[in-house]
Amino acid sequence: MREGTAPLIRREDYSAPAFWIKSVDLTFDLDPAKTLVINKMQLERNLDVPAQALRLHGEDLNLTRVLVNGESVSFRHEEGLLVIDSLQGVPAGPFTLEIRNTCAPEKNTHLSGLYTSGGGFFTQCEAEGFRRITYFLDRPDVMAVYTVTLRANKQQYPVLLSNGNLVEQGELDNGRHFAKWNDPFPKPSYLFALVAADLVAREQWVTTRSGKNHLLQVYVRRGDLDKTEHAMNSLIASVVWDEARFKLPLDLERFMIVAVGDFNMGAMENKGLNIFNTKYVLANPATATDSDYLGIESVVGHEYFHNWTGNRITCRDWFQLSLKEGLTVFRDQEFSMDMAGSASARAVKRIDDVRTLRLSQFPEDAGPMAHPVRPDSYVEINNFYTATVYDKGAEVVRMMQTLVGRDGFAHGMTLYFERHDGSAVTCDEFAQAIADANPQSELARLLPQFKRWYSQAGTPRVTARGRYDAPSRTYTLLLEQSCGSTPGQAEKQPFVIPIAMGLVARDGRALALQLEDEALPASGAYPQERVLVLSENREFFTFVNVDEEPVPSLLRGFSAPVTLADGLSDNDLLLLLQHDTDPFNRWEAGQRLALARLLAAVRGDGDLQLDQPFIGAMRGVLTHPTLDAAFKELLLSPPSEIYIAEQLESVDPQRVHAAREAMRMQLAQALRDDWAVAFEANQATGGYAPDPISVGKRGLANLALNMLCLDAVARGDTVWPGRAYQRFKDASNMTDRQGALWALLASHSELAEPALARFYELFKGEPLVIDKWFTLQATAPESGGRVFARVKALMNHPDFTIKNPNRARSLIAAVCMGNPAAFHRSDAAGYVFWADRVLELDGINPQLAARMARVMDRWSRLAEPYRSAAREAVSRVAAKPDLSSDVREIVTRALA
Ligand code: ARG
Ligand code: ZN
Repeated sequence: MREGTAPLIRREDYSAPAFWIKSVDLTFDLDPAKTLVINKMQLERNLDVPAQALRLHGEDLNLTRVLVNGESVSFRHEEGLLVIDSLQGVPAGPFTLEIRNTCAPEKNTHLSGLYTSGGGFFTQCEAEGFRRITYFLDRPDVMAVYTVTLRANKQQYPVLLSNGNLVEQGELDNGRHFAKWNDPFPKPSYLFALVAADLVAREQWVTTRSGKNHLLQVYVRRGDLDKTEHAMNSLIASVVWDEARFKLPLDLERFMIVAVGDFNMGAMENKGLNIFNTKYVLANPATATDSDYLGIESVVGHEYFHNWTGNRITCRDWFQLSLKEGLTVFRDQEFSMDMAGSASARAVKRIDDVRTLRLSQFPEDAGPMAHPVRPDSYVEINNFYTATVYDKGAEVVRMMQTLVGRDGFAHGMTLYFERHDGSAVTCDEFAQAIADANPQSELARLLPQFKRWYSQAGTPRVTARGRYDAPSRTYTLLLEQSCGSTPGQAEKQPFVIPIAMGLVARDGRALALQLEDEALPASGAYPQERVLVLSENREFFTFVNVDEEPVPSLLRGFSAPVTLADGLSDNDLLLLLQHDTDPFNRWEAGQRLALARLLAAVRGDGDLQLDQPFIGAMRGVLTHPTLDAAFKELLLSPPSEIYIAEQLESVDPQRVHAAREAMRMQLAQALRDDWAVAFEANQATGGYAPDPISVGKRGLANLALNMLCLDAVARGDTVWPGRAYQRFKDASNMTDRQGALWALLASHSELAEPALARFYELFKGEPLVIDKWFTLQATAPESGGRVFARVKALMNHPDFTIKNPNRARSLIAAVCMGNPAAFHRSDAAGYVFWADRVLELDGINPQLAARMARVMDRWSRLAEPYRSAAREAVSRVAAKPDLSSDVREIVTRALA
């Protein structure tokens, strides 16, 4: 573990390595207590930089020998480094370095490097885990060809995997066996992986366009094979999609996915050997919900797409992380949208992605951890696998696509691979390739300014004011932008903001958009939708031949990651909710109507009384004859408590919760009969399938059931809770079962208890379902402190362990992040609980502890008494003397 005083690493200090590692031959004698690693490297001096000693990274290792060209040499240790001074003046040309060391996988609770899980060996090397396996130049710009020999007991570890192709396998003495793997593609150490475990695989051969055959495998523990079909289907679909959309083929004979139950993140794109959290592999209808199915599809796609965006072209340094992550999230979002199919299903996916962005990235950009998509400095790189790098990074790529068009973007990608395949590059080089492939585009014209999206943190705010002039039949839109200061960046320069828009007439018609002095386009008609590019602090856009005062529909499809203040009235929003041709803005109009009412209640006397126009609009949505069920569900779900809180200057989480619950209750009561109709009308028929139509029906039916129970329990009526319990018992899939259980929990029905007990009995052998069982209890609407008390009791449940990341998240993160009203208590017990857990986790798994620590990012915006108590809890964590650098960085920034 690194000391708490770890230094700040700066992007501007980048220098190329003093040596290259051309190839590496690794041999592992795998033993949980003490694994021997024999590491034979071919190195070369980098003649482009001044001669220096060789400094190899190493962490938590026991070094037993160092040989240069077969001869022993003297070496010394510096903070986290092995230094060989005598190599400073080594002649040009290759030399060999052999290192032997041991490590202790079973003691590795950080889950970074080589560790054990469920009796097997697994690795996680990104970002800097390889140095916990052996001494190396553990930086992404050092790319080597790997040959790996694994030796282990055959009975305990029948499956031995590493990157690339299997070249040899056989028996050894004492019940041991070996396997030798070779990966022909030079790769950075963070993409190394090995697995040795008792696993079984689902296999599938596929033929790609070139006619080559490839073996796809999904490895899981015995007994989980019946939960691998969806992951395999998602992998096949990913292979097909990347070839069709970007002409990027599978470049390996064999592509493996391995599921592991102990994993810090979602999954990892190791070359040819992706390692996944079981959560993103295992699914069958009885154990996984619709959203689990969608999550698996997108994560399988994400890791597969990394093979080109990340592995073939990788990052020069970790400041460029978004080069691969932002781009790959963009690609997995596009994949999921293309898989969804219909325009409405695509919009549902887009809305989901924007909700995620607003829920996690917007708060990050407004808080103490705000950083640019390409950060300038870090203490612990693992703290920068953030919503900003991933999700805002994806929005930046999406804006490029908006500015150059879909085809132009595909050409840009082709140029990017022509220029940089096989190398480690920067975000600048990506943006340059997209612009160079589209020389006539707005992106090319504004590139240096566009790249401020990479260098400036913070969420820009766009203000829009429209003025209609009847005599001249013109409509003038004034767009202005600003961006608040963020840590280390007081002043911001204007961004390039693409604003997709339309103008809607009072009768709902879409108007033709003719800008001043604009000639008729070749198509013969002015468009009804266009992209305005705002690049100054303020700009006017004047539309001519406008017959009546329109309602502007701005930022369609969420065309830029900004907040928008357009001053639209309730009537304007009601019009857009009904008529906007852009489904995203239709949804947005509904959310804004709800948000306005919620904020008025929270800021006012706390009382919320829904008005008839709003209720009527929501009824119109619920009973709409043609809208898809999934879209209705999104429209009828009020904004989350976290999103509401972000709009407030001073947050009382209890008031936010009360207002939102009041809105839910009033919608439940006012629309009672319509909910009942919707429930009956949206019963998915036939066998389980996670297609968008069925998913939408189940989602809306579950929301309806939730509302019907809420209303019934409040009235003392037991019919709907009884039906929910019956549905819970009889459900043929997890989505319906969990939905019915949630309806009972969220309405505080007496039947919630027996249902929870039954749920546990049914699934006690299924760890991922038991995670759900913990989470359901931790996220149930708080009433009188009962939920929080239950969480504390569950910490002592025999199935609870803080050492398994999924389980820790299922209870601790669930209540601290997912249940504001249970967490933010006036007696500060939630904060005490949080500090205790962060401190406890810090000694076990600093990466996970640092994630949990982020819960308190927004403490300074809390109202009293929460604010003072929260600061005290953060200070208590910060006061621990031997805190990991991971958590230290988070709490230091929080208190700054
Ligand atoms: N590259 C992986 C992915 O996004 C994530 C790995 C993150 N690992 C970490 N230690 N932070 O697909
Ligand atoms: Zn990724």
